Amino acid sequence: MHRYEPSKYRPFSTVAKQDRRWPDKVIEQAPIWCSVDLRDGNQALIDPMTPAQKLEMFDMLVEVGFKQIEVGFPAASQTDFDFVCKLIDEDRIPDDVTIQVLTQARKDVIERTYQSLRGAKKAIVHVYNSTSAVQREQVFKLSPQEIIQIAVDGATWVKQGAAQQPDTEWQFQYSPESFTGTEIDYAVDVCNAVIDVWNPTPENKIILNLPATVEVATPNVYADQIEWFCDHVKQRDALTISLHTHNDRGCGVAASELGVLAGADRVEGTLLGNGERTGNLDIVTMGMNLYSQGVNPQLDFSRMDKIIHVVEKCTALKVHPRHPYAGELVFAAFSGSHQDAINKCLSQYTEGAPWQVAYLPIDPRDLGRSYQQVIRINSQSGKGGVAYVLEQEHAIKMPRWLQVDFSPVVQAEAEQTEAEVSAEQIYDLFQRTYLQPNDHMTLKSYQVNREQGNDKMEAVLVDGAAEHHIKGEGRGVLEAFVAGLSKHIGHPFVIIDYNEHTMGHDEASEAMAYVQISIGRQRVCGAGKSRDILGATLNAVLNAVARSETASKQKVA
Ligand code: KIV
Ligand code: ZN
Repeated sequence: MHRYEPSKYRPFSTVAKQDRRWPDKVIEQAPIWCSVDLRDGNQALIDPMTPAQKLEMFDMLVEVGFKQIEVGFPAASQTDFDFVCKLIDEDRIPDDVTIQVLTQARKDVIERTYQSLRGAKKAIVHVYNSTSAVQREQVFKLSPQEIIQIAVDGATWVKQGAAQQPDTEWQFQYSPESFTGTEIDYAVDVCNAVIDVWNPTPENKIILNLPATVEVATPNVYADQIEWFCDHVKQRDALTISLHTHNDRGCGVAASELGVLAGADRVEGTLLGNGERTGNLDIVTMGMNLYSQGVNPQLDFSRMDKIIHVVEKCTALKVHPRHPYAGELVFAAFSGSHQDAINKCLSQYTEGAPWQVAYLPIDPRDLGRSYQQVIRINSQSGKGGVAYVLEQEHAIKMPRWLQVDFSPVVQAEAEQTEAEVSAEQIYDLFQRTYLQPNDHMTLKSYQVNREQGNDKMEAVLVDGAAEHHIKGEGRGVLEAFVAGLSKHIGHPFVIIDYNEHTMGHDEASEAMAYVQISIGRQRVCGAGKSRDILGATLNAVLNAVARSETASKQKVA
């Protein structure tokens, strides 16, 4: 066994704060979203997207409703450069969407970046340099002041580049890369120096993006850093404070949520969380988290299957079946008690009322998923789930006593096949068990005579090639039929439960009936289908009797 040496790592440092306000806040409106699928997400792929894939992703981001989209790092790759030019030259950017490009704080790189943006109506130029102690000391081997100078120079070149292309509406963005590993007061000094170059106003804000380039602490520490930063940076009212979280500790979404509580206005991330290493903030999750609290996410995820399709195609990465909101299994209930609870809540839910369904934090239909996908049957499932599937898929509304009877049949099948049982398999089992059991007879014809409240019935039953004539009397058709059939099979029986319904909404709809009989020392269920209710009921009785005979034969054998 590997011997871990905890002294190899150091605990993260916390922010000494007396005036922590963010824990008492709630998010009441969606932040400004910026998608970095085409930049951070693309940089993190084994095979970066092709131009066609970038275009498909861009169009989908627009369709989802992003108003700010980082479309690439044009000076770093010819594909990105050409892509930015294509979007502009072919007029593919809607008027209400602003593209953003990333650049290092280097003069030649910034100049090339501006070349890619020629003709743009508006754009955000995003410049960054690393500011953390480890980057300063080990990667760049520069003093804190020299690192500030890189930021100031970068900001200056960005400003100059914009001045040379005055027809474009520019916005500037600066990221102290690895912000969370940067001494907080020093991060403020760096950003203040950039602010001095750009001179923002409340009408013409700049974006300061504070990345958790590598997530190294719990999200509360990030929130403290953001709140502290907002309290100490100059000209806060002329700034859009942006977050850019990664997911190294698995808390990218939580960190962004807490960061927004702490005062951030804007959030960068990707659909479904693609991005460097463990990925960026997953905007689908954060957006739907907001929606589940009654906040309009201002993004449309209702065509989730399309989003998944495009993301998987462009990234060549599969979405995990348990991915929040999007995964194949996240609204699926296999366990019987969960299915029962969901079934009960759904049947009480009225359209337009506040959503309150056990085990389903949001309505799957908001993501383009149907209720049919919710209840999934395996050996852990119970009667509620099976009933739900039959009702949804085949309009079969089993009464409770039949649900209890049928559930073990489905469970036995699931255990035997060691797999999920599909809706079709469930229907097939139902059919073989109750509608067409072994040795069943069918009703060929019947006649009823009613005299003074007494029914006399004659019926012809078909059993393979043979026909059987039965006669009976009773205080109703069913009683008369039971009397005739009891005589015919030589065993008295009584009906103890009975239920029926039509299977559609017009007069041509078929009827379905269910009965439970007590015969000998057993209770046996049957179901019958016919054009009319009486025919369905009589068939149900015949099927129950056939099942009882099979059952007693099996006992004798
Ligand atoms: O993670 C990061 O720090 C980045 C910056 C370029 C914003 O992607
Ligand atoms: Zn990043």
